[in-house]
Amino acid sequence: MQILGIDVGGTGIKAAIVDTATGTLLSERSRTATPKPATPTAIGKTLKSVLDQHRWSSGPIGMGFPAAIQKGVARTAANIDASFIGFPVATYFSEQTGCAVQVANDADVAGLAEMRFGAGKGRDGVVLIVTIGTGLGTAVFVDGHLLPNTELGHLFLDNGMEAERYASESVRIVQKLKWKEWGPRLNHYLTTMESLLWPDLIVLGGGVSKELRKFSPLITTKAPVVAASFLNQAGIVGAALFAEQELRATL
Ligand code: BGC
Repeated sequence: MQILGIDVGGTGIKAAIVDTATGTLLSERSRTATPKPATPTAIGKTLKSVLDQHRWSSGPIGMGFPAAIQKGVARTAANIDASFIGFPVATYFSEQTGCAVQVANDADVAGLAEMRFGAGKGRDGVVLIVTIGTGLGTAVFVDGHLLPNTELGHLFLDNGMEAERYASESVRIVQKLKWKEWGPRLNHYLTTMESLLWPDLIVLGGGVSKELRKFSPLITTKAPVVAASFLNQAGIVGAALFAEQELRATL
């Protein structure tokens, strides 16, 4: 199936047409800045230009969104406008675009892509996916099954800091942290997560995953830590896979 995968982030909105049978991108990836403030109306407008860029007028759309999402409704809003809390994201964006839009948490859909085609393929046990970007997103899979909407980037560490305000990519950039400064912060987070969840594998997504070599010596978890195979495209591919899954369920 060909589906437009859209990954809405706190900083950028990335999109491409995805072949869901193989997880490959069929169009060039586009990136548009997330409007500020990131309100439903503003994001709706941006989506129209994203659709134009991909000449997508009526086909299905899968969307990864940076919030806990229950049946298409946002429940949280950490890096987007607070007006999204309780907002029917899927219905509203379907109306705005004229396309059937399926929405799920951005880290959950990135995890779907990694479990189906990437670093978590064929992996049983507990797999933890952490997407590192404006926020810290998490997805937890047990024997290939997703526990949706884990918001573990908001965990408070034993230094009193909320994890995503301490170890995200945006914090690394804003505070101009060197790898040797930021790496121990991420390690603090990952070792805390390990002590709570005991994952068999940890997969890191987001732009920083391609730099894993630079900070992996600072990671001391017992579980292996690997980069997402799709790097920062996991969200786009996974959004399309999620939409396909939902569409098939309604057939
Ligand atoms: C949000 C999560 C999201 C993560 C990554 C967090 O601030 O609460 O829902 O998955 O950022 O975008």
